[in-house]
Amino acid sequence: MAASPDTLSIVRPDDWHLHLRDGAALHAVVAASARQFARAIIMPNLKPPVTTVSQARAYRERILSALGGSGRSPGTFRPLMTLYLTDRTPPQEIDAAAEDGDVVAVKLYPAGATTNSDAGVTDIRHVRGVLERMQRHGMPLLIHGEVNDGTVDVFDREAVFIERVLIPLRRDFPALRVVFEHITTEQAAHYVRDAEGGIAATITPQHLLYNRNAIFSGGLRPHWYCLPVLKREHHRLALVEAATSGNPRYFLGTDSAPHAAHLKEHAAGCAGCYSAPHAMPLYAAAFEAAGRLDRLEAFASFHGPDFYGLPRNDGHLTLVREPTPIPERLPYGEHEIVPLAGGETLPWRLAEEH
Ligand code: DOR
Ligand code: ZN
Repeated sequence: MAASPDTLSIVRPDDWHLHLRDGAALHAVVAASARQFARAIIMPNLKPPVTTVSQARAYRERILSALGGSGRSPGTFRPLMTLYLTDRTPPQEIDAAAEDGDVVAVKLYPAGATTNSDAGVTDIRHVRGVLERMQRHGMPLLIHGEVNDGTVDVFDREAVFIERVLIPLRRDFPALRVVFEHITTEQAAHYVRDAEGGIAATITPQHLLYNRNAIFSGGLRPHWYCLPVLKREHHRLALVEAATSGNPRYFLGTDSAPHAAHLKEHAAGCAGCYSAPHAMPLYAAAFEAAGRLDRLEAFASFHGPDFYGLPRNDGHLTLVREPTPIPERLPYGEHEIVPLAGGETLPWRLAEEH
């Protein structure tokens, strides 16, 4: 890492949790991530979901072709594909994934927990054969860690998931490598810190920068609504402590989840924050506020590849200290999108590309 008061140059980071969508939306967003990140774990919750290796391969081709269409060289960004786990995923699909160098993980959505998760897993008992096969292949399970139970308060669903699902699952599959995605609570941060075995967690910029007051300040603010939902300030502080601790179990995953502005400004607004265009400046703001800019590089560029058993990147990314306003709206195919922190000013920006 090279730092001066005005610039910060780090080994090129990766995004270990990203939604790129498909079609016109994919074309609108893919370059923003490729501009900053060398690789990204691509979420499979399309409509219909990406459940097979052949669907993942076809989606990967669409991503690379959209990237080429945006004027960036497809060789500069590697999409790491995932499969969407369903009650009916055959264990042989895991063997096929393990043989395919571009499908690197499987995503577990509890059925109905979030956007396009209806085809997700209704009961872990249905996927035991798949989990055994993943454990054997060393293939990570990426978990959306919330129970989908209407009797559990929406702010408690992550903490309840740990007790009800995650602990028993890891007891039954102790060698299964697990990424607890987009953690939002002190309970999750501490569970990951203290648990035994192969476990890690991704942390988003919104959960480091905002607490749940952001959703309700001066009116109902749908652009701060994501799942798992923002929590109380003491949870945010626990996440900042985790991300900036230097512990290799925590790494960067934006969960950038684009939805057109009109679908968020809606009676039943979609969950998801679009952070991709200024993801690294957002993380830099959070690390700097914690007095821990020196730990950004390991969180963004080292811990993820180390967990996934991939090489760290060769190139670098440079940030420049300059107050930079974030646009209130951006083009999104035929529509518009409101980026996270739209209208705010961030202390860092991306350096110009050469
Ligand atoms: O806020 C979210 N948006 N959380 C998710 O889990 C899914 C994502 C999306 O795909 O929009
Ligand atoms: Zn996500």
